[in-house]
Amino acid sequence: MLYLTRREHFNGAHRLFNPNWTDEQNDATFGKCANKNWHGHNFDLYVTVKGLPNPDTGFVINAHDLSSILKKEVLDKLDHKNFNVDVHELKGVLPSIENIVQLIWKWIVPHLKGCQLHCVKIIETENIYVEYYGE
Ligand code: NI
Repeated sequence: MLYLTRREHFNGAHRLFNPNWTDEQNDATFGKCANKNWHGHNFDLYVTVKGLPNPDTGFVINAHDLSSILKKEVLDKLDHKNFNVDVHELKGVLPSIENIVQLIWKWIVPHLKGCQLHCVKIIETENIYVEYYGE
């Protein structure tokens, strides 16, 4: 089995807050991420697929095809967006990177042919990242 990873980049804004909590509870839990007027991040996205090389191409997946899928299914939906208000599927969902990697997984899976999705990873800051393996 071979693993191929494509890196993409996007940026966006969000606010982490629980509407059922007081401002004090939100500030205590989410800190600066609870800022009422949003804040942004530059996100690095790593999508890893696994499979065997196609005998006709030698590729697990054509990296250009994977990039096209990521552009259409992920970047067009998230890049330069406010995740709380611009992304339909995140309505009523805390737009943490934990929740966003799961959404990205759901967006990508139906479009992969001849390989399987292995991991979706988002780096939010130089100190924090999340990986999702579909389970
Ligand atoms: Ni944040």
